[in-house]
Amino acid sequence: MQTDVVLFGAAPKEDEALLQKAGKIIREGGLVAMPTETVYGLAGDALNPSSSEKIYAAKGRPSDNPLIVHIADMDSLQDIAVDIPDRAWKLADRFWPGPLTMILRKSALVPGETTGGLDTVAVRFPSHPAARGLIKASGRPLAAPSANRSGRPSCTTASHVLEDMNGIIPLIIDGGTVGIGLESTIVDLTSDVPMLLRPGFIDVHTLEEILGRISVDPSVNGLTDKSAHPKAPGMKYKHYAPKGELCIVKGPEEKVVEAINALSSEKEREGKKTAVIAAEETASRYQCALVRTIGSRSREEEIARNLFQVLREMDDLGADVIYTEEFDTPHLGMAIMNRLIRAAGHRIIRL
Ligand code: TXA
Ligand code: MG
Repeated sequence: MQTDVVLFGAAPKEDEALLQKAGKIIREGGLVAMPTETVYGLAGDALNPSSSEKIYAAKGRPSDNPLIVHIADMDSLQDIAVDIPDRAWKLADRFWPGPLTMILRKSALVPGETTGGLDTVAVRFPSHPAARGLIKASGRPLAAPSANRSGRPSCTTASHVLEDMNGIIPLIIDGGTVGIGLESTIVDLTSDVPMLLRPGFIDVHTLEEILGRISVDPSVNGLTDKSAHPKAPGMKYKHYAPKGELCIVKGPEEKVVEAINALSSEKEREGKKTAVIAAEETASRYQCALVRTIGSRSREEEIARNLFQVLREMDDLGADVIYTEEFDTPHLGMAIMNRLIRAAGHRIIRL
C-alpha cells in the first residue's frame, strides 16, 4: 500500500478537500493518521469493529489494550457513554476541547473491539483543527491510539508516523510538529474517587480544582514496578523505548554530571556507542561524543515537546547505551518522568 503524506493548515480549501478524502477512507473502514494537540493518532471508525481490529494490527498492539474514542462536540459524549456523572460534565466544560481523556461506562453503541473487551470507554474531545475536522468529515467518533508502532515512542511529527506506518496505512495528515508532545491526561471517573491513570499536560493539581481529592494509580510513578522488579523489569512494562539501553541517573546535579561522565566513558571504552540526554543548562559539561539537548529546565513545555523526538533520535544514532538526566520539572515533571521511566524499562541509578 502506498502511504500519502499531505500537508494540513496551509490553505482552507485544500484542507477541506483533504478532510473529505480522509473522512471517506474512515467511513469505508480504513485508517488515517491525524495530528492532535498531544501526539499523532492512528484513526479509524470507533463504531466499526473491523476498523479497530485494523488499528491493532497496524500498531502490532495486543487487542486487549483499549483505544480512546475521539469526539468533536459535547453532545456526542452521550452517544458513547452512559451513567455520566456530573463531575464528567464539569471536567468537559473546563478542559474540552483539549488534552484530557475520561474513562466512563460505555454505551451499547461502542463495540467491545474498540474497548478491548471492557465495559468502560475512554473518551476525548481533541482541540486540534485537523482532528476535529476529520471527526466531522467522517461523521463518526474516531478510535485513535498514538500512531507509533506498539512499544516505540509516540509520534510528534508526520515523519515519525511515516517511519512507523509506511506501507501500512493509505494517508497521513501532516499538521507539522504537535504542540504538547505528550499524550493526554487520563482520569478514571467510574470509581467513587476519581483516579489518575496517566499524567499529561493537565496536571493533578489542576484536576483537583474541579474534582476535589483524586487518587493516583500507583503505577503512574513507576512505584509498583519498582518494588516488584527492582533491577530487571520485564518487557511488559517497557514502552516508548529506544532500541539502545536507556538509564536514568538522578540525584544532585554535580553528582549526576560526574556519574554520567564516568559511566559513559566506561561504555565508550567497551566499544559501545554511547549517548547522553541532557538539559540545556548542563549539556556542555558532558564529555561523551553524543550529547543531545532536550530543552531548558526553565521551559518545561520544550522538554515535553522534545522527549519523543530525542528518544527516536537515539535510534537514528544507533546508540547502544543512553544515559539521561531526570526532568522532574514543577508542572509537567510527573508526565515527562512517567514516559521516561517506561522508556528506560525502570532502569534508574539513584545517587
Ligand atoms: O493524547 C492521546 O490520548 C493520544 C491522541 C492520539 O489522542 N492517544 C493515545 O492513545 O495516547 P493510546 O492508545 O496510545 O493510549 C491510550 C491509553 C492506553 O494506555 C489504554 O490502555 C488506556 O488509554 N485506556 C483506553 N481505554 C481505557 C479504559 N476503558 N480503561 C482504562 N484505560 C483505558
Ligand atoms: Mg500510545
